[in-house]
Amino acid sequence: MRRKLAAGNWKMNGARADLTQLQALCAAHDGATVDLLICPPFTLIAAAVDICASHALRIGGQDCHAAAAGAHTGDISAAMLKDAGADAVILGHSERRADHAEISDDVRNKARAAHEAGLLAIICVGESLAEREAQNTLDIIGGQLSSSIPDTATGENTVIAYEPCWAIGTGLTATPDQIGEVHDFIRARLEKRFGAGVGRSVRLLYGGSVKTGNAAEIFAVSNVDGALVGGASLKCDDFSPIISALEAAAKAS
Ligand code: PGA
Repeated sequence: MRRKLAAGNWKMNGARADLTQLQALCAAHDGATVDLLICPPFTLIAAAVDICASHALRIGGQDCHAAAAGAHTGDISAAMLKDAGADAVILGHSERRADHAEISDDVRNKARAAHEAGLLAIICVGESLAEREAQNTLDIIGGQLSSSIPDTATGENTVIAYEPCWAIGTGLTATPDQIGEVHDFIRARLEKRFGAGVGRSVRLLYGGSVKTGNAAEIFAVSNVDGALVGGASLKCDDFSPIISALEAAAKAS
């Protein structure tokens, strides 16, 4: 039985004043029946960890370097995230792939570093609109999966997030059929590569314009174990109903 996960990606948003949103989330979801994670910008991680210290809400980073330390100005290592109190890190987000020319080999090396540091690696995959329109979606996802996931992956240290690039921050959401097709495909690929035990234990998140109005429908899709939420994770009032929808889905399943 995979425990559901509601993860929030604050991206390059948030100042110290916004930590009140975390306090509100902790208060609203004491005793949550699903795993909760917020990935704020690096500058807020240590303070966020302090705020959530006595709560099940976990804190993660949005990227890490593949090396443990060294001359890499501006970068943060997985060990540093762990040292700051983080439990997870998002890797290979399409914005990193686009803005920083990250390729799947980079993502795999970062994920291996995350595993070595004891972090949960949330590895993102997703097709562009042009790739979907050319009916290449499953080929693209298959390629990203084989190259981005290290051999060290297990159900405890790895989560896969399917985020179609055209649905991120656009208000467009993949249909339940589209999500189901890709999530079933990812599950089959994981089982083939890692065997049924590990393959069935890795959680699969959907991401891309998840909001209160579409969360329940998305969480009812097979092999959807939760969501990676961007814009709607910034405010407790927006994220909280999504968490509640996931708790309801967990109860129903
Ligand atoms: P969005 O972002 O929910 O704002 O579309 C999702 C993501 O990029 O993780």
